[in-house]
Amino acid sequence: MAGKPLKIGVLISGRGSNLQAIIDGITRGEVAAEITVVISNEPGAYGLKRAETNGIPAVVVNHRQYPTRQEFETKLIEILKEKDVAFVVLAGFMRVLTSHFLKAFPQRVVNIHPALLPSFPGVGVQEKAVEYGVRFSGCTVHFVNEGVDAGPIIAQAVVPVFPTDTGEILADRILAMEHQIFPRVINWIAEGRVRVEGRRVIVEGAETDENRAWIEPAI
Ligand code: GAR
Repeated sequence: MAGKPLKIGVLISGRGSNLQAIIDGITRGEVAAEITVVISNEPGAYGLKRAETNGIPAVVVNHRQYPTRQEFETKLIEILKEKDVAFVVLAGFMRVLTSHFLKAFPQRVVNIHPALLPSFPGVGVQEKAVEYGVRFSGCTVHFVNEGVDAGPIIAQAVVPVFPTDTGEILADRILAMEHQIFPRVINWIAEGRVRVEGRRVIVEGAETDENRAWIEPAI
């Protein structure tokens, strides 16, 4: 791994399994990043324990204690800057960030979303995908802009949706893919291979295979 690791701050709200996947990727030497801080807006988030177990500074910034979004975000920015964070990773962070925050980290915030955007933005989307009857869903890693789940897409992974699925079953299938693609994308960013051209994101040296296609139900 050449050069200095990219200093990232990871924002969470809960379980933190994506955080764990990133930590594991770093530990295995597959992700050229260093997590200098984990921040949760939820005091009881299990991800805070994961951070502590791995010797990563973990901080709670409870949004309920701030009268406005801007004040909440100002506190986040203050901590991230103090920890020398160059890139912000939203890993199950369930608060919408405004331009106030994004201006502090321009083109330097990524999020993972458990659906194939632009389908199913928002929350509860695995269940919505099952109810809608789509044959495929998946996850999306994207840059964060001022819209909700609307920024330029870096990578997506696709999974099938079966008639017998519940939202929970599908969520687990998608989560397994989240754990695969999120650390990889962060490594691409750390290696300086990702650039944005308008809405499109170019990943330098990414492998492609034009023969890949899926049909569901299978034929
Ligand atoms: C993940 O499925 C992530 O995609 C989703 O929350 C879950 C967090 O799990 N994020 C969103 O819905 C963002 N709007 P984790 O805490 O175990 O990583």
